[in-house]
Amino acid sequence: MNTVQLMPDKAQFLSDTLTGLKSKPKYLSSKYFYDKEGDRLFQQIMQMEEYYLTKAEMEILETQSGRIADLIARDGTPFDLLELGAGDATKSVHLLRELLTRRQDFTYLPVDISSNIISCLENRLPGQLPGLKMQGLNGEYLEMLAYAASASGRRKVILFMGANIGNMDIGQAQDFLLDIRKHMTQDDLLLIGFDLKKDPRQILLAYNDLNGITRAFNLNLLARMNRELGADFRVGNFDHYATYDPESGACKSFLISLKEQTVRIGDADKIHFLANEYIFTEISQKYAPGDIEALASKSGFRYVKHFTDSNGYFVDMILRTEQTCLV
Ligand code: AVI
Repeated sequence: MNTVQLMPDKAQFLSDTLTGLKSKPKYLSSKYFYDKEGDRLFQQIMQMEEYYLTKAEMEILETQSGRIADLIARDGTPFDLLELGAGDATKSVHLLRELLTRRQDFTYLPVDISSNIISCLENRLPGQLPGLKMQGLNGEYLEMLAYAASASGRRKVILFMGANIGNMDIGQAQDFLLDIRKHMTQDDLLLIGFDLKKDPRQILLAYNDLNGITRAFNLNLLARMNRELGADFRVGNFDHYATYDPESGACKSFLISLKEQTVRIGDADKIHFLANEYIFTEISQKYAPGDIEALASKSGFRYVKHFTDSNGYFVDMILRTEQTCLV
């Protein structure tokens, strides 16, 4: 199996890092969390008691994949099943199995920014799901969606699960959905997962667990810059800080500089930190049902169906494009 790879290279990582750390206020992109160590820590996060998201969406896929498969299989025409941010695919496996049971003609195209994750999937899935046709796509979501749309004329079902849309603010999410929509036709479907607004304490705990796994996940970004960009961060001089605002639904993670310090990045660049200065590293946006409807219609999508877990923590929504073109 040949993985298609279109990865941001080290030069891109360096340039994004310098742009973010020279900005006021400082920021880093959460897409750089996911190196081998970041993938390992994220696997641990998904198994944490506090991280309810994975369990909630898993329940939806475990108990309702039959209904989802009926809906996306439709008249039985062949399709490509593109999963943006496939991760370890433990949730989508349930849907893949249902589709295989229905002898549906489809090819699974998992897209992930982590090359490590894509090779693990290519090694594991064919044994776990005999008969599965798949091709891993290693790179950015939109680039890979454009590639897949041009590589085949079949209808597309796009999965964007795991609350990955939450790692964009609402404006970015709307732009992103508009971009996805540009690659979709009337026959295509989008299944997208949203974490819902709920008890603020429960949300905050999911991003500030007592065992410090999320803390290690956030701090790994600094260690990754040391490993890959020759930076000299003293990781112990920074700490993880998470906030949740129930009004906007924004859960944010920061790295806080515990003292005034200067850090070297690469050969030439030096970044100065004041004591208590922060680097914004991640947003995990939470949605009320009305927020999702507004987002979908502003991005040119029409509601088809939704599936929730028994606690009402999470929703997977199926959308199709509106006839009229918004852009
Ligand atoms: C991948 N993404 C949806 C996770 C989230 O919940 O925002 C990443 C994460 N960050 C900290 N914990 C989990």
